[in-house]
Amino acid sequence: ETPIASTNYDKLEASAKARLDPAAYDYAAGGAGLETTVANNRAAFSKWSIRPRVMREVYPNRNLTTTLFNKTLPAPVVMAPVGVQTLYHPDGERATASVFGELGLPYTLSTATSTGFADVAKANGVNGTRWYQLYWPSDDDLTRSYLNVAKSNGYDVLVVTVDTWDLGWRTRDLDRGFFPFIRGIGVQIGLEDPVAHQKLGFNPLAKNATAEQKQTAALYHVITTSRGISPVWDRLPFLREAWGDGPIVLKGVQTAEDARLAVQHGIDGVIVSNHGGRQIDGAIGSLDALYDVTNAVKGQLVIGFDGGIRGGADIFKALAIGADFVQVGRPVLWGLAHEGAKGVRHVMKSLLAEFELTVGLAGCQHVQELNRTHLVHV
Ligand code: FNR
Repeated sequence: ETPIASTNYDKLEASAKARLDPAAYDYAAGGAGLETTVANNRAAFSKWSIRPRVMREVYPNRNLTTTLFNKTLPAPVVMAPVGVQTLYHPDGERATASVFGELGLPYTLSTATSTGFADVAKANGVNGTRWYQLYWPSDDDLTRSYLNVAKSNGYDVLVVTVDTWDLGWRTRDLDRGFFPFIRGIGVQIGLEDPVAHQKLGFNPLAKNATAEQKQTAALYHVITTSRGISPVWDRLPFLREAWGDGPIVLKGVQTAEDARLAVQHGIDGVIVSNHGGRQIDGAIGSLDALYDVTNAVKGQLVIGFDGGIRGGADIFKALAIGADFVQVGRPVLWGLAHEGAKGVRHVMKSLLAEFELTVGLAGCQHVQELNRTHLVHV
């Protein structure tokens, strides 16, 4: 059987581009300003090379099993929260969630999802591991409601994105005037929320709702979740109380200072991420930030990483530097553009296979063996 898409990242992206509406492609491919942070994310990987060890006991099937937040997973690989997925295929989040469910890997649902909590949970399956990514609303009643609906649908790790309380200067989208949320894409959680219905005084999904009401509800969701004012450390006790005892992870940490603050505030994990270079132009490559963060807090909380993972060797490098898990963003979308679940399955299986092979060829049998002795900074 011919593969649905190339196993080479650049070719995969090129064929996705050819299939997609140019505005949708640019929305995902682009970053802030001159896109130097996007470039820095990739460049950071070339600063490290793998030092392969040979003639060690390595068997045909490497053990990539990892325990994260008390759950044993087949590999330390997680779906990054990515909103508006129906831009990439009509099946959108349903397709990506179903494949991550099949693979037994955690699926993170974005607050900017184009498919609601329950429908994604159904696609992800009864045995799926589900995390929920919060864009922290400015209204506490809405926050409580989103968290309650998430919990009742089996999302049990809370990922709070702290780098996107306002949208970055995304030049490709600005030039096109492209903003999916105004078109009603990526606002489904707001449209479905019972507390939002109370506040609005109507249910925008009711049979008799008008187009204008839908538009109002969509804007209400965008305005409350992209609040223009940063949430602050002092507000974390509210979030802890609203979420309960389950794990809370801060996504978008890039410095040792903030990672130490997360530890001091009793946070369970951080994800070293710069939103795929979409927020600040001219910022540190995320893998360079991972080096600082792991030096500061390794072992004190769970450390995730994203930004520029394009192949198995990249996963190897991030874990060897000290990440406990990695997340994948754009490659999954390019897979999604190739016939939905079929393309996502192809991309994720290829990535996992290349990673497993890299672990073995570098002389390791178990993913826990990866550490900095397997790398050299060049
Ligand atoms: C994102 N990302 C993101 N992050 C988040 O916390 N909530 C979200 O809704 C979104 N939405 C989103 C949409 C699109 C189209 C992209 C490309 C990215 C950021 C995402 O979670 C992750 O940090 C980066 O995508 C990781 O970098 P790579 O793997 O794309 O290089």
